[in-house]
Amino acid sequence: MTDHLHDEKILILDFGSQYTQLIARRVREAHVYCEIHPFSLSLEAIQKSQPKGIILSGGPSSVYDPGAPKSDPRILALGIPILGICYGMQLLTEQCGGRVARATQREYGRAVLRVREEAGLFDGLGGRETTVWMSHGDRIDAPPEGWRTMAESTNSPNAAIRDETGQRFGIQFHPEVVHTEEGKRVLENFLSRVCVCSQSWTMRSFIDTSVGEICARIGKAHVVGGLSGGVDSAVAAVLVDRAVPGQLTCIFVDNGLLRMGEAEQVERVFGDMFHLDLRSVDASERFLTALAGVEDPERKRKIIGETFIRVFEEEARRIADVQFLMQGTLYPDVIESVSVKGPSAVIKSHHNVGGLPPDMKLDLIEPLRELFKDEVRALGRELGLPGAIVNRQPFPGPGLAVRILGAVTRERLETLRRADAVVDQEIRGADLYDALWQSFAVFLPIQSVGVMGDLRTYENVIVVRAVTSQDGMTADWARLPYDLLGRISNRIINEVPGVNRVVYDVSSKPPSTIEWE
Ligand code: XMP
Repeated sequence: MTDHLHDEKILILDFGSQYTQLIARRVREAHVYCEIHPFSLSLEAIQKSQPKGIILSGGPSSVYDPGAPKSDPRILALGIPILGICYGMQLLTEQCGGRVARATQREYGRAVLRVREEAGLFDGLGGRETTVWMSHGDRIDAPPEGWRTMAESTNSPNAAIRDETGQRFGIQFHPEVVHTEEGKRVLENFLSRVCVCSQSWTMRSFIDTSVGEICARIGKAHVVGGLSGGVDSAVAAVLVDRAVPGQLTCIFVDNGLLRMGEAEQVERVFGDMFHLDLRSVDASERFLTALAGVEDPERKRKIIGETFIRVFEEEARRIADVQFLMQGTLYPDVIESVSVKGPSAVIKSHHNVGGLPPDMKLDLIEPLRELFKDEVRALGRELGLPGAIVNRQPFPGPGLAVRILGAVTRERLETLRRADAVVDQEIRGADLYDALWQSFAVFLPIQSVGVMGDLRTYENVIVVRAVTSQDGMTADWARLPYDLLGRISNRIINEVPGVNRVVYDVSSKPPSTIEWE
């Protein structure tokens, strides 16, 4: 648990729902700081953290399963407001002496909720019918003694219940998903009416608190950090530099796998605009040599990760008296390492700024480890970073190497870079860049026959990939206008030597992935 001095905090206990992170995001969107912890968080830890309220997430289990996840029942005696969602509601019911049973009919998808009583949680919804999102097999047969039913749906006579104090609630539906029309209002009601939170957590207040903390932690020491050109390391660097001006040195490793103009942009923004102490290292030769002839995607990633660490380390050793290593770790990575059953199995090894050798003895400073991606962007804006950095689509650490199938060569990189620049220009020109999660080109080392003028050609294929997504875990292929696809294709084939065919990837994730590798 962080020892952050947040005035107000909501604790979310995770029972393994795929929606747990969404709950946290919604709470924060309502300007209340919250943390996700495993359901097994100890009573002492909960007391120490003094939350204004506790949310019990949903989960895949049934409360009567052997080994079903259960939070410490003594939480119920702490007098802290509690909202149980789906499994969380069933657990609350069971722990308070009510009865949970298998529903004869599973309820999945949209349902109509009829609200009978407002009682704080449903303020503004009294007497109304509203669409909610359900996903459960169990249901509440009998609420605990003294509890009341606040709402019902066709398959759940007790779709929302509360105790006699009006401090503990259970809801069968998921307020955190967009399909629940009034979900935002229900969560906000819980935060403001039941937990009486002031809803004052903003990126500005975050900057104030974290500048103070970073200052206190670092003192007069020196910090080193990697800049990748991506949002996370950029925001982390600017924040740390604001907290301890002049004590941060940034290392930018040009691995030769970047997109067109990217290295120059990093130097312009961080060197010229923000005046960070920036050391750029052109290590492209070294990376390409290490990658020569390697076709296996996992091997490529491993080589890139290891080479990066070596180059970074060599550079870092040149800086005198470094004591801290800054990293742009985000909250989802933190949660994933502690949660019940992380939201997804790790499918590919991600090699970004990895660990440094232990003999360097650097302390980690991770100023973004409490934030979600959207919040990092908002923070970047608040810190004055340009839109070109803050609104940048994600770009994988191993760079264009995962977008060239087979071996990486200078020539292929050049082809891909040029094709990718066309995709980028056209997507931005069509004003679609911000609406897409990612849009880029992929190089396929497959030759097919074409005809240019009177000549037969036998050249490579470029794939255009554009997807919409909330978080990269699932994604759908973007329905780009045909005219736009036509322009992209024409331009690539006309402007990029070595390409005579362009195809559009119409696969969603799952079962495909976003990158081709
Ligand atoms: P996939 O291809 O697994 O990608 O659907 C999901 C998201 O992760 C990005 N990605 C990476 N990001 N280092 C990163 O920082 C990596 O090694 C890496 N591999 C994939 C990918 O671009 C997409 O947004």
